[in-house]
Amino acid sequence: MRQLIAGNWKMHGRLADVQGFAQAVRTATRHTDLLICPPFTLIDRLATALTGSGIAVGGQDCHPAPEGAYTGDISAPMLAEAGAAYVILGHSERRQGHGETNARVAGKVLAAIAAGLTPIVCVGETDEQRDAGEAKDVVRSQLMHSLPEGFAGIIAYEPVWAIGTGRTPTEADVAAMHAAIRAALAARLGEAGKTLKILYGGSVKPGNAASLLALPEVGGALVGGASLKAEDLLAIADAAPRG
Ligand code: PGA
Repeated sequence: MRQLIAGNWKMHGRLADVQGFAQAVRTATRHTDLLICPPFTLIDRLATALTGSGIAVGGQDCHPAPEGAYTGDISAPMLAEAGAAYVILGHSERRQGHGETNARVAGKVLAAIAAGLTPIVCVGETDEQRDAGEAKDVVRSQLMHSLPEGFAGIIAYEPVWAIGTGRTPTEADVAAMHAAIRAALAARLGEAGKTLKILYGGSVKPGNAASLLALPEVGGALVGGASLKAEDLLAIADAAPRG
């Protein structure tokens, strides 16, 4: 299966960046799928700039309801209308900074699927939880409660302590967690859980991508900081094994 390299721009990126970025990624040869999740304000422009390139655009969050009196929120049908095909849900910056619970994330996943978007559900432990030997239990519990029955989408394992810090888990730790996630998905979703893509995220850079992406059960990467430069994102994609 082709790997997916997904860029999460977070609250970065301005209109002036869009054309140059789109031009750089669309003209590069690649052997992975590519997805860019810019701020909401740039989805429409980026999707237009990437038309016909096969490179997808996604949102970074959505509300569980299709519309309503929710000041500052964005709905899944609105993302789809703007040109998004994916949406990142349950990122630790949402779980921690906006108090999002697993139940809330599950509601968003249902909304995303109903709108025809592919949800990318993020899970991951804090460093305190890892130090306490609870990492796998925390991640299993997040999966159990954030994924609705019949979930179809993508999982991103992002240890909270590895996000934006330059620190990454050992290859053995990533492989062990991805195996645990695969087992939990199969237990929760049956046959379908055996093939869902599991991304690794947290300080993925051109220099460490090859070793992380070659690990068993790693189906691609969710890339924050390094996705802001087309050159770095493409170097990460180049480092992925050919599927
Ligand atoms: P990072 O962010 O690559 O900057 O660590 C990853 C993420 O938060 O998705």
